[in-house]
Amino acid sequence: MKKIAVLTSGGDASGMNAAIRAVVRTGLYHGLEVFGIRRGYQGLIEGDIFRMATTDVSNIIQRGGTILKTARSQEFTTPEGRSKACKHLQEHGIEGLVVIGGDGSFKGARELAGECPHLRVIGIPGTIDKDIVGTDYTIGFDTAVNAAVENIDRIRDTAESHDRLFIIEVMGRDAGYIALNSGIACGAEDIFVPEEHTSISDLIKNLRYDKKRKKLVRIIVVAEGDEYGGAEKFRELIRNRFPGWEVRTAILGHLQRGGSPTYFDRVQASRMGYAAVNRLLEGGNSEMIGLQHGNIVHIGFDQACKKNKPMDLGQLEMAMVLSS
Ligand code: F6P
Repeated sequence: MKKIAVLTSGGDASGMNAAIRAVVRTGLYHGLEVFGIRRGYQGLIEGDIFRMATTDVSNIIQRGGTILKTARSQEFTTPEGRSKACKHLQEHGIEGLVVIGGDGSFKGARELAGECPHLRVIGIPGTIDKDIVGTDYTIGFDTAVNAAVENIDRIRDTAESHDRLFIIEVMGRDAGYIALNSGIACGAEDIFVPEEHTSISDLIKNLRYDKKRKKLVRIIVVAEGDEYGGAEKFRELIRNRFPGWEVRTAILGHLQRGGSPTYFDRVQASRMGYAAVNRLLEGGNSEMIGLQHGNIVHIGFDQACKKNKPMDLGQLEMAMVLSS
C-alpha cells in the first residue's frame, strides 16, 4: 500500500482534527502518500481530493470541528454514488481509506469496501453521541459532555436564584449518554434518555412531592431523542399540571458540538488515528478502531454497525438516589 486517504463524515465532533493529524503524520512516517478528502463522502463523489503534507495538520490538534469539513451524503447511499466515489479513489491510486464518523458512516464504508476493488477501509468512531457498539468511547463525547456540564451548572445558578424548574435538552437523537453523564455530573433531579421508558406518572408524583415540601428548584435533563419528546413537550406537560410553577427550558443544541477538544478527546483521537494507519498496513479491512477497557482494539464493521448499544441503566437509578 502506497497511498491512503482520510475523510470525516456525519456530524462533526471535537477531536476529529487530532485524529486527522494522527492519520496524516503516521502515514507520512511510514513513507505513504496521504490524501485528504473534503466534505466526507459527498466530496469523494465529486473528486474533492488533495495531497496532504505534514504542515497541513500543524496547529490543529486543539481546534474543534474538522479541517476536512463534513457532510451527510444521500448520494453515497446509492450504488451509483459509491461507484463514482470508487472511480475517484482509483484515479488517485488510493488503496487505503480512513473514515472518521459514526455508525451511518461505517455502513457506507462497509459497502464501499465490498464494492471497490483493491480498496481497504478502516473506521475511527467520531460522534458526540457515543452510541457505537464495540467501543467504550467515541471521539467528541468528552468535550460534548463537558460543554453540557458547564452550561447546566450556569443554569442551576439562575434556577436557584429564582426558584425555577428548568428542563434542559441535550443532544442525542438515538442515545442518552450525554444526558446520563451530564445529568449525573450536575446532580440533575431527573434524567430522561431514549434507552429507558419515560414514566410521566413518576415525574408527576415527584413534582407533587416537591410542591408539598416547597422545593421549587428542579433540573430535568432530557436527551433530544427521548420517547416522550424534547424540553418543550415536558414544559407543556408541567405547565398544564402545575399552573403557576415557574418553568423554563434551555436547548443546548450545537453548543455541545463545537469548542476546543478536551485533553481526553485529543489523546484518544491521536491513539485511534495512529492505530488506524497501522491497521491498514497490517492488512486490516472493513473494521473500526475502538477502545475497550482503555485498550485499542479493532472490530468488524458488521458488529460496529449494529443498533442499540446497551446502556448501564443502574447509573440512572444511582443518579436518582443521589439527587433525592
Ligand atoms: O450525531 C450527532 C448529533 O449531534 C446528534 O446528537 C444530533 O441529533 C445530530 O447530530 C444533529 O445533526 P445536525 O447537526 O445535522 O442537525
